[in-house]
Formats: sequence, structure tokens, C-alpha cells
Amino acid sequence: MRCAGRRMAAPALGALLLLLGAAAVGGREVSMQYNPGWNGSSVNVLHVRAVGRSDSLHYVWSSIGAPSVLLVATRSPSSALSIDWSRLLSPAPAGAVWIEPPGSVVYAAAIVFTKLFEYSKADASEVFYPTYDLSDFSWDSINRTVNHTALTAELRGVPTSDPSGSFSNGSLAFRVTAYGSGGRDRALPGLLHTANSSKVEFVLTGAAPRGNGSRFVLEVATVEERGAASRLRSVRSIDDEYTPTIFETLSLVAESQNDSSALSFLQWKATAYGSQHPTRGDGIQCHAGGLRAAGGARPRSAVVRAYFGDGAGSAYGVSAINVSFGGEDGGAYREKRYLSWSALLGFGPPPEDTFSPLIISIVAAALGAPLLLLLLGAAVLLCARRRRYSEYEPIN
Ligand SMILES: *[C@@H]1O[C@H](CO)[C@@H](O)[C@H](O)[C@H]1NC(C)=O
Ligand SMILES: *[C@@H]1O[C@H](CO)[C@@H](O)[C@H](O)[C@H]1NC(C)=O
Ligand SMILES: *[C@@H]1O[C@H](CO)[C@@H](O)[C@H](O)[C@H]1NC(C)=O
Ligand SMILES: *[C@@H]1O[C@H](CO)[C@@H](O)[C@H](O)[C@H]1NC(C)=O
Ligand SMILES: *[C@@H]1O[C@H](CO)[C@@H](O)[C@H](O)[C@H]1NC(C)=O
Ligand SMILES: *[C@@H]1O[C@H](CO)[C@@H](O)[C@H](O)[C@H]1NC(C)=O
Ligand SMILES: *[C@@H]1O[C@H](CO)[C@@H](O)[C@H](O)[C@H]1NC(C)=O
Ligand SMILES: *[C@@H]1O[C@H](CO)[C@@H](O)[C@H](O)[C@H]1NC(C)=O
Repeated sequence: MRCAGRRMAAPALGALLLLLGAAAVGGREVSMQYNPGWNGSSVNVLHVRAVGRSDSLHYVWSSIGAPSVLLVATRSPSSALSIDWSRLLSPAPAGAVWIEPPGSVVYAAAIVFTKLFEYSKADASEVFYPTYDLSDFSWDSINRTVNHTALTAELRGVPTSDPSGSFSNGSLAFRVTAYGSGGRDRALPGLLHTANSSKVEFVLTGAAPRGNGSRFVLEVATVEERGAASRLRSVRSIDDEYTPTIFETLSLVAESQNDSSALSFLQWKATAYGSQHPTRGDGIQCHAGGLRAAGGARPRSAVVRAYFGDGAGSAYGVSAINVSFGGEDGGAYREKRYLSWSALLGFGPPPEDTFSPLIISIVAAALGAPLLLLLLGAAVLLCARRRRYSEYEPIN
């Protein structure tokens, strides 16, 4: 009997060890700096530096042009960001942003939030309202929102010209969170992160919809260097204890064309939320369109042009994807005037959820119970036989 009990514990213990093994090790020293090297506050550049033992990662968030983030991985823990401010703020910013020493750079990419579309469905057709081009927004200074303890900051803006007055009580924001170690967000959608990633939360709040059943679509562009290409991956799981009722995780992964290894990613769960403190009832459907190569089009982002260059021969590719929010009736936003969508971005492969402890214990119990019964049965049988033999033995 004692023996059966031990065997029962084995699968659960194994699962636990697997879980512990999957937990990220190796943290980073993270710092945030506003407009490094310049004391003006009319534009926003936020430099997030995440230093590891033998490397450092740079995230350069900016709202000069469309809101965007430049990602640069280096093999040196002391690599630094340099900005030629007068060039960056000029109409020709190529070359204004670089990393010192340049030889330490291993990989660079960028993500640009280009446009917000709004449409409503009238009968069978879709009516599109004038597009909000995010490079035509005016943005508050991010400086006063930087929290160096929580490693958060918020980029908030409104359209420079707003003929419909939709944004008179509203705004659009990108909330940034940097991480120095692995873990999982407590707030929904409970994204799993590593020290090699940051989170961005897109928040549309208070803006008046221009139609009765308006739905919004956010266009996101990714910039990859030559030798890398983006691919959309979707993972469906039977389990999401952390994001109830949502079983799909999407990742836009930049892969090396050499060996298909993942170089960087943007990852999100197929849900948005209609509340500041969301519960599962506040979920808003979220769909991804197809990934499209942008051809020769260059996103209107000063840091992208500054880092990657501008000329026709500059060696980078751009692809874009539409992320749409709202289900069939599209009423979710109209009622609450709040829409929030979170995504993780970072270097290397996107984090992958293992099965949650709840599922593991259910599976362990499901597998364990019959096993226990089997072992119990075997033990009882064995004991009975032994007894029978022992009863016979004296006779022999
Ligand atoms: C940013 O904020 C800090 C602290 O609030 C302040 O000391 C600094 O002058 C600000 N920088 C700019 C460029 O406004
Ligand atoms: C910072 O700004 C002040 C006033 O705007 C100016 O006098 C000063 O020279 C600036 N400092 C630097 C280092 O640019
Ligand atoms: C920064 O974040 C910490 C931790 O979340 C919080 O306790 C603190 O109040 C925040 N500081 C400011 C100025 O908001
Ligand atoms: C903005 O808010 C005011 C007061 O709450 C309200 O009267 C007005 O209709 C709102 N405007 C829009 C465009 O929602
Ligand atoms: C983070 O990046 C470093 C260096 O690129 C790598 O060694 C490490 O395994 C990565 N960690 C995670 C959790 O992805
Ligand atoms: C919105 O609904 C109202 C009444 O429900 C209707 O009169 C109006 O035409 C609708 N507007 C649009 C743009 O569908
Ligand atoms: C692909 O391989 C070449 C040659 O080995 C190397 O120089 C280049 O950095 C690699 N590119 C990527 C994106 O890994
Ligand atoms: C996103 O949707 C809008 C409106 O339908 C379209 O004009 C745009 O080309 C789409 N972008 C992508 C990357 O599919």
C-alpha cells in the first residue's frame, strides 16, 4: 500500500518540476530615460535599457511621427544609445539614432502603430469613417508619466485635427511596461513575460464613436532587417486559466531566413477588454487580419528612419497587420467608451504557456485515480494471494 502511494505522487511531482524548470532565470537591470541628451519636452523619446550579464537590450519608444518602438539587441552590457537631436528633429532624420559601439549590435527591428480605422456595418455593407493616422496626433509629454519603480510610462495623444469632435472627451494611449525578470501579469489577459520583453497596452478611452455600431481596427507595422521575415503564428490551447474563455494566442514573429530561428516578436491573446479593471465579462473579440508586405512604403516614424536609413536602398522590409476589435454587433465600445488591448514585444522566441497548475492537477488526478485504483486492486489481490499461499504453506 505504501508503495502505491509513492507511485501516485510521481506524475504530480514530475509536472511540478517541469513547471519550475520552465520558470525564467537570469534577470536584467532595467532603466528608463526620457529624451536622452536633450532637455526639451516638446517630443517624446523614451529609452528603456535592459542590461544582462553579457548583453543589453534597447527599446526606443517615440511619438515623433507614428508611435513606434525600435528594438536593438547587443552583445555588450555597456552598449549605449546615441541620438543626434538636431538631425532627428529635422525632415531628414536618417542616421540620427545609433548604438555605441556599432559593432556590438546583434539584431534590430521596429514596431510602428500606424493607423486606427473605424467602421460600422450598415445592412450588409461596411461604412468606413475617415482614418485616424497616428502620425497626425499630438502627444503629451511622456516624462511626467514615467514611473522608474514600476517601470511604466504612458504615451497619450489626440488627433491634431478632429473635425468630428470625437476626441473632445477622449484620448488614445500606449502604456509601456518594461520587465527585469520573468513572470505573469496579474491583470487580464495575464500575459506571460520574460526579462527579454516589454508590454504595450493600447487604450482608447472616451472617444465618441462616429457610428452606432462602430468597430475599431489598429494597423501595426513591423520593420525587419534584410535576412529576417515576419510570420504570424497562432497557437490554440485547451487551457487558459489565466485568460478565461480565450484559447488563442497570436504571435507576429520575425524569423531569421538562415535557420528560421525567432529573432523578435509581438504577441497577444485574441481578446481586448472594455473596462479599466477587466473581468472575463468585459472581453471584446479581437481578430487578426492577414500579414501584408508593405512593398516600398516606409512607416512615418522618425526613429525608424533615423536608425534604419531612408534611401531607396536601405536594407529593411516592412509588413503590416490589422488587429480588429469588436464582435458581430460592435456595441461593446459604444456602451463603455473604453477599449484596451495588450501585447508583449521582445527578443528571441515568444514566451509559451505550459499547461496551468489547475489543468496539470486535473490531468494528474484523472490519470492518477485509475492508476491508484489499479494499484490498490493489484495490492489487494496480491495480499489475498499471499495470504492464500501462506495459508497453504503450513499444509505443504
Ligand atoms: C522630466 O521629469 C523630471 C522629473 O519629473 C524633470 O526633472 C526633468 O526636467 C524632466 N525633463 C524634461 C526634459 O522635461
Ligand atoms: C536646457 O534648457 C535651458 C532652458 O530651456 C537652457 O538654458 C539650457 O542651456 C539647456 N541645457 C542644455 C544642456 O541643453
Ligand atoms: C510607481 O509605481 C509604484 C509601484 O507600482 C507605486 O507604488 C508608486 O506610487 C508609483 N509612483 C508614482 C509617482 O505614481
Ligand atoms: C463631452 O463631455 C461633456 C460633458 O460630460 C458632454 O456634454 C459632451 O456631449 C461630450 N462630448 C462628446 C463628443 O462626447
Ligand atoms: C534572453 O536573451 C538572452 C540573450 O539573448 C538569452 O540568453 C536568454 O535565454 C533569453 N531569455 C529568455 C527567457 O528568453
Ligand atoms: C443610429 O441609430 C439611430 C436610431 O437608432 C438612427 O436614427 C441613425 O440613423 C443611426 N445612425 C447610423 C449612422 O446608422
Ligand atoms: C545569416 O547568416 C549569415 C552568415 O552566416 C550571417 O552573417 C547573418 O547575420 C545571419 N542572419 C541572421 C538574420 O541570422
Ligand atoms: C487594414 O484595413 C484597412 C481598412 O480596411 C485597409 O485599408 C488596410 O490596407 C488594412 N491594412 C492591412 C495591413 O491589412
